[in-house]
Amino acid sequence: MKTLSFLGSPRRNGNTAALLGSVLKGMESAGSTDGDFIFLQDKNIKPCNGCNACKKKDASGCVIKDDMQDIYPLIAKSDLIILATPIYWWSITAQMKLLVDRIYGMDFTCGKKKVALIMTYEGELPNSGPETTETLFREICDYIKADAVAVLGVCTGKVQVKDNQKALDEAFELGRKLAVG
Ligand SMILES: Cc1cc2nc3c(=O)[nH]c(=O)nc-3n(C[C@H](O)[C@H](O)[C@H](O)COP(=O)(O)O)c2cc1C
Repeated sequence: MKTLSFLGSPRRNGNTAALLGSVLKGMESAGSTDGDFIFLQDKNIKPCNGCNACKKKDASGCVIKDDMQDIYPLIAKSDLIILATPIYWWSITAQMKLLVDRIYGMDFTCGKKKVALIMTYEGELPNSGPETTETLFREICDYIKADAVAVLGVCTGKVQVKDNQKALDEAFELGRKLAVG
């Protein structure tokens, strides 16, 4: 199984990175080592310009020439996509939104992909962001006919993920489950 994971936090070593890291370690421990990791903050991904060229008959993909051109083939050949994002203003980060907007023209009809959402957030109440973000994620998966296989959210209000062994263990176990399908 090919896995492609995206880190949508601008912080390479923050909470979301720690949580994603534990999921990937769990996957590795269960034998799933075929994966690519993309730190979106480092990538040059321009916003969708709404030209709809990607939706035209016989379109050959997105016309914007930036780092997405290297990412499209990785998405196409992946079986499992992991989206890891902190919650910013009740939603995914701008880095993650740029990615999601730019997959608009991709054809997901050949071969159902699995997609997992990993998120961290500071607010302790469900309405501080995890609910709206999970709904957004599930609607997007429905639209692209992907399988929303997992959602893991961890509150970082009191304890940072690196010091939250329970959350790290849960992420590791999720990784093991994802690896076996
Ligand atoms: C611009 C900004 C907006 C945020 N908005 C929310 C929010 O709507 N709800 C919430 O619970 N936390 C919010 N947070 C807190 C982050 O989601 C939280 O600190 C997260 O764990 C940071 O992840 P990181 O360490 O990977 O960057 C926000 C943080 C920033 C910087």
